[in-house]
Amino acid sequence: MTLLKNKCLWLTGLSGSGKSTIANALQAMLEKEGLRVKILDGDILRTGLNADLGFSAADRQENIRRVAHVSKLFLDEGYWVLSAFITPAESLRTLARSIVGEEDYIEIFVRASYEVCRKRDPKGLYKKVAEGKITDFTGLDSVFEVPLNPALVADTEADTHEETIQKILDFIRQ
Ligand code: ADX
Repeated sequence: MTLLKNKCLWLTGLSGSGKSTIANALQAMLEKEGLRVKILDGDILRTGLNADLGFSAADRQENIRRVAHVSKLFLDEGYWVLSAFITPAESLRTLARSIVGEEDYIEIFVRASYEVCRKRDPKGLYKKVAEGKITDFTGLDSVFEVPLNPALVADTEADTHEETIQKILDFIRQ
C-alpha cells in the first residue's frame, strides 16, 4: 500500500447514503498503513469556506469547484484525499475530475435509494424536508443524476459496512 501513489477518492451520492461514514473508516485504515489522509466533507466545508453557498445549481457548482481545488492542494502535498460531496450532476463530477486531474481522481458512487436514505435519516434532514422546511433537496426537488462512469460503486444497501470498506481497499490496492 505505501508504494501506491496517493489519490483523491471522490465519494458521490445522496445525503445519508454513507459517504462520510465510508470516508471516516477509510481514513482509519489508510492511516494505520502510515499514509497521510485528509477528509473533505460537504457538511463541514459548508460551515466555513463555503458558508456563503446554498443549494441552487450555481451554488453547488461553486461549492464543487472550490472543494476540488482544495482537494488538489492536499493531493499535491502527498495526502490521500477523501472528498465526500453529493456532487449531484454529471457536469459537476466532470468539473471535479478536471480540477483534480484525470490520473488522480477516483470516483466512487455511494449508492443507496432515496427511500433508504430517508429511513436512515442520520441528520434528521429528511424529516425537515417532509415538514417543508428544506427546499431544493437532492433526490426530491433537486435532481441527482446517477453517475455514468464511476470507478467503483459502493452499494450501502446491498453490502455491509465491512464489505464496502474492503471493496474500496481492494480496488485501490489493484
Ligand atoms: S453538493 O450538492 O454541493 O455536493 P454537499 O455535499 O456540499 O452538496 O452538501 C450536502 C449536505 O448539505 C447534505 O449532506 C446535508 O446535510 C446538507 N443539506 C442541507 N440542505 C440540503 C439540500 N437542499 N440538498 C442537499 N443537501 C442539503
